[in-house]
Amino acid sequence: MVDSKKINLPMHVAIVMDGNGRWAKKRGKPRLYGHKQGALRARDFVEMFATYNIPYLTLYAFSTENWSRPKSEVNGIFKLLSENLDKAIQIAHGQNIRIRHLGRMDRLPPEIQKKARAAIDLTDNNTGLTVNIAFNYGGRSEIADAVRTIVTSKIKADKIDELLVSGHLYTAGMPDPDLLIRTGGEMRLSNFLIWQAAYTELYFTPVLWPDFGREELEKALSVFSKRQRRFGGI
Ligand code: IPE
Ligand code: IPE
Ligand code: MG
Repeated sequence: MVDSKKINLPMHVAIVMDGNGRWAKKRGKPRLYGHKQGALRARDFVEMFATYNIPYLTLYAFSTENWSRPKSEVNGIFKLLSENLDKAIQIAHGQNIRIRHLGRMDRLPPEIQKKARAAIDLTDNNTGLTVNIAFNYGGRSEIADAVRTIVTSKIKADKIDELLVSGHLYTAGMPDPDLLIRTGGEMRLSNFLIWQAAYTELYFTPVLWPDFGREELEKALSVFSKRQRRFGGI
């Protein structure tokens, strides 16, 4: 395990959990089988991640663009989430993990909304790792939602600055991600944390999400610890 005293760890890690479909295809299985393995991996991953000294983890599980997939796949993903939530919540609560949701709740099936709210309420006072689940999340709709709230609250134009906008995003009060990992080999953000990732270190790996475990995480952390972050300075 990486020694947090020796290496510079991020405060906030964000992950695009990509590659479930290809993982299944490689094994001659339907895409939903890949999502099932991906969900199990996410559960194990959170449990493992909580043993590191990193306070924030954000997982991209379903984007606003993923609605364009066949209905059977979308419903299958919802079903998997619903089935996994109860057990995942118990494990998380037992580990003092605080669960948050990033995204729009309204279009989601009522059962998922109910379970998600229950998870957020149950774990609200936990003081360990914060896990943000980005589900029905889109960076652009997040910014649009923030603008709408700012306008409805009648905030004066001269009061609008970067801090104020940040404070109206789903991630209000949390630090920006220091490290963004994308599994599955694609090198793009796919509408993930587009405001917050302005100065995030990006790490892309061809490893497919269901195969991304401790060893792969440590590789990413080790690469991150050697990056020089200048934030525009010299
Ligand atoms: C990521 O895996 C999970 C979701 C987007 C819900 P994909 O389903 O995108 O897997 P690939 O990219 O097709 O392999
Ligand atoms: C991004 O993966 C969204 C999630 C992992 C939840 P996609 O597979 O949807 O992204 P694109 O379509 O390759 O950009
Ligand atoms: Mg994909």
